[in-house]
Amino acid sequence: MSTPRPAAVIVLAAGEGTRMRSRLSKVLHTIGGRSLIEHAVAAARGTHPDHLVVVVRHQRDGVAQQVTALDPDVLVADQDEVPGTGRAVECGLQKLPDDLQGTVLVTYGDVPLLTSQTLADLVEAHTVGAAAVSVVTAHLADPTGYGRVLRDADGAVTAIVEHKDATDEQRQVDEVNSGLYAFDVALLRSALAEVGTDNVQGEKYLTDVVAIARARGLSVRAHLVADVWQTEGVNDKVQLARLGGELNRRTVEAAMLAGAVVVDPATTWLDSTVSIGEDTVIHPHTQIHGASTIGTGCTIGPDTTLTDVEVGDGASVVRTQALLVVVGAGASVGPFSYLRPGTELGAHGKIGGFVETKNAQIAAGAKVPHLTYAGDVTVGEGANIGAGTIFANYDGVDKHHSTVGAHTFVGSNSVIVAPVDIAENAYIAAGSAITESVKTGELAVARGRQRNVEGWVTRRRAADAADAADTPDSADEGRPS
Ligand code: UD1
Ligand code: CA
Repeated sequence: MSTPRPAAVIVLAAGEGTRMRSRLSKVLHTIGGRSLIEHAVAAARGTHPDHLVVVVRHQRDGVAQQVTALDPDVLVADQDEVPGTGRAVECGLQKLPDDLQGTVLVTYGDVPLLTSQTLADLVEAHTVGAAAVSVVTAHLADPTGYGRVLRDADGAVTAIVEHKDATDEQRQVDEVNSGLYAFDVALLRSALAEVGTDNVQGEKYLTDVVAIARARGLSVRAHLVADVWQTEGVNDKVQLARLGGELNRRTVEAAMLAGAVVVDPATTWLDSTVSIGEDTVIHPHTQIHGASTIGTGCTIGPDTTLTDVEVGDGASVVRTQALLVVVGAGASVGPFSYLRPGTELGAHGKIGGFVETKNAQIAAGAKVPHLTYAGDVTVGEGANIGAGTIFANYDGVDKHHSTVGAHTFVGSNSVIVAPVDIAENAYIAAGSAITESVKTGELAVARGRQRNVEGWVTRRRAADAADAADTPDSADEGRPS
């Protein structure tokens, strides 16, 4: 039997999140390279629902914009001024077809570790159990603040009572409502119509649907999830860091199980969107973000931050910062390299220490080994860019592009003033300031010619000695003697 799919998922994200103490909406804070709401939408989408609704209110434009950018098929529902999770779901239901049938899942926008698999398991158990409501529950050492799951003598769930509304005896219960549910949609609609706001908080509680279903003689299941991290929400920045750390621990572990060697998991930060090939070694204090793909048998780090970077098999990237960069197979980068967008290093090429590159296509086997700025330049195969070379790409108004042909040698400490085309198999003399193009086979020298002046030192010292004899204190002036 294939896993049943939900008719819809409603993700609640209208809450204010005041405890974050932030100008940014709570659900727009990120862990593992994705915002909380992006994690929530991705988990919901992974169950392949017919409809996916996100309910917004607080900072609605920012949240709605990010959600639809990630997933254009998401329906955005606005919660009105009636507060509470029940009202939020009601507003979400208004976006769905009136004749919708089957299972509706409700999740939260601030529960980022929840997986599609856990939701799929919930739908499956809910369907197999022919339940009207399945509530995801967890046993917590400290259940303070959560809604408690009440059961009758037979162990059947009878109601959920909010902490603030609970009696001392009910507060002893350590099984909590995690806030994730599967509902029969018809039951959900009709029960919500009965829910009032007569409680301590004056809110329309979604949890009241449980007791209403029971009163109608319908079946309510508790769906216990052992992995409590998956049900934990973010309310403040301490929890944000805690869940961020756990998400990273899981991502790094998955990378290791997929074949990467991670020397120090505690200081290695990987976004869940990153892929790393087998036998690649990640050294300490390395962060790999975004849509980065690392090949097999690479050496990455230590102290390296890569964002949206593609690294070919067997390459080495050491003590490097790189964004939107391609590093070819077997190439070597670092230590202390800064690779900016548009840098493409060919197979077995080299970008060495204290080199900054930007929009630089450096072909296979070419080398930029030391102390160079290479901006807006195309370097041909096997070319060598000497130590200290600067590609001066900016004239104060516009950026210009230069080229260096294959197997050309640029001598150390040259300035290539763009735009300039240096052909293949050319030579640039060290210390040149190149402002004109150079043809194949030519040596370009663009610097003051050296002039050796015979006897100059002897004459100079004799003149100094004569001066010293005239002025007795001159020994104090620090001249060499
Ligand atoms: C709710 C549950 C509680 C459960 C807890 C788990 C109710 C009445 N209580 O508590 O039993 O143990 O979650 O975390 O449902 N939201 C809206 N609109 C609103 C209010 C909330 O969209 O008007 C969203 C929030 O953005 C958040 C989620 O619903 O994502 C939960 O809201 P929160 O206030 O944290 O939950 P509680 O009411 O404390
Ligand atoms: Ca909460």
